[in-house]
Amino acid sequence: MNKRVVLNDGRTMPCIGFGCFRLPADRLKQVIESALDAGYRYFDTATRYENERAVGLALRLSGVPRASLHVVSKLWPTSFHEARRGIEYSLSELNLDYIDGYYLHWPGIHPDMRYRAWEAMLEMQQRGLIQSVGVSNFTIGQLEDLIARFGVRPTVNQIEIHPWYPEQALADWCKAHGIQVASWSPVFRGRAVTEPVLARIGAAYGKTGAQAVLRWHVEKGYIPLPKSGDPGRLKENFDIFDFSLSSDDAAAIASLENGEHLGDDPETFDGGTFMPGR
Ligand SMILES: NC(=O)c1ccc[n+]([C@@H]2O[C@H](COP(=O)([O-])OP(=O)(O)OC[C@H]3O[C@@H](n4cnc5c(N)ncnc54)[C@H](OP(=O)(O)O)[C@@H]3O)[C@@H](O)[C@H]2O)c1
Repeated sequence: MNKRVVLNDGRTMPCIGFGCFRLPADRLKQVIESALDAGYRYFDTATRYENERAVGLALRLSGVPRASLHVVSKLWPTSFHEARRGIEYSLSELNLDYIDGYYLHWPGIHPDMRYRAWEAMLEMQQRGLIQSVGVSNFTIGQLEDLIARFGVRPTVNQIEIHPWYPEQALADWCKAHGIQVASWSPVFRGRAVTEPVLARIGAAYGKTGAQAVLRWHVEKGYIPLPKSGDPGRLKENFDIFDFSLSSDDAAAIASLENGEHLGDDPETFDGGTFMPGR
């Protein structure tokens, strides 16, 4: 099962992705092979994860046709002032001729740098090196500002979403403006597994709590990006396309909202001191 969603630039991408943040470095190739066997075709990495090279190599060695893969990487805010170099770095680490999706990883705190980076991404898109341009962790205000300035809508806003932190206003705004939401930390770094409400709901469908919550994301229209380094769990996370949540169960999942979340504040997070390749 690999349904695709249509983006606002006319391209498509798979409706579920495989999160590559903190994959075990020593078993990365086997984990990616397991993810491909399970059915994942969208692989979500970033320069910040420091594994673009290993992810690209594992995908190439897999023998899966390039055209059926969807590879996303992201530019960290400390590279915005030299964005072209940052994008070229991603391309060379991944060892790909083009990247399916490339995103500003965070908005950063310097709008001028953000604009420069977005401009560089649009230029690389013109040159065929990036297919779809997107953003991550952008607020409504930051999206409005970027769109007003460039007249180009990001295809995707990748943001932290899970039942505890549903970001409903932002997700609704993205939907109204044709921007696809992708949800990071979709199982709240494993918290979904220990939540009794989710375990009970999952069991009613012969599924686990993690599967219940991932199904909730898909039914909300989001692209969830579960990460697992375990072949059994990553398969379990993909096996969510043969059941539908009742409205009562979807409401019970939504009632977990309490504002708890992991991410930084997009208005103040500057990306720290990370620089790729250094
Ligand atoms: N754009 C951004 O700023 C941003 C930020 C963070 C993450 N992301 C993206 O989102 C992806 C996912 O986020 P995440 O890794 O933070 O959180 P996550 O996918 O919600 O949670 C991953 C954790 O949950 C465990 N887990 C996953 N499936 C499980 C299952 N079925 N049963 C039990 N435990 C399970 C994993 O353990 P095991 O590995 O041991 O199974 C791992 O410890 C990342 O890999 C990355 O691609 C993007």
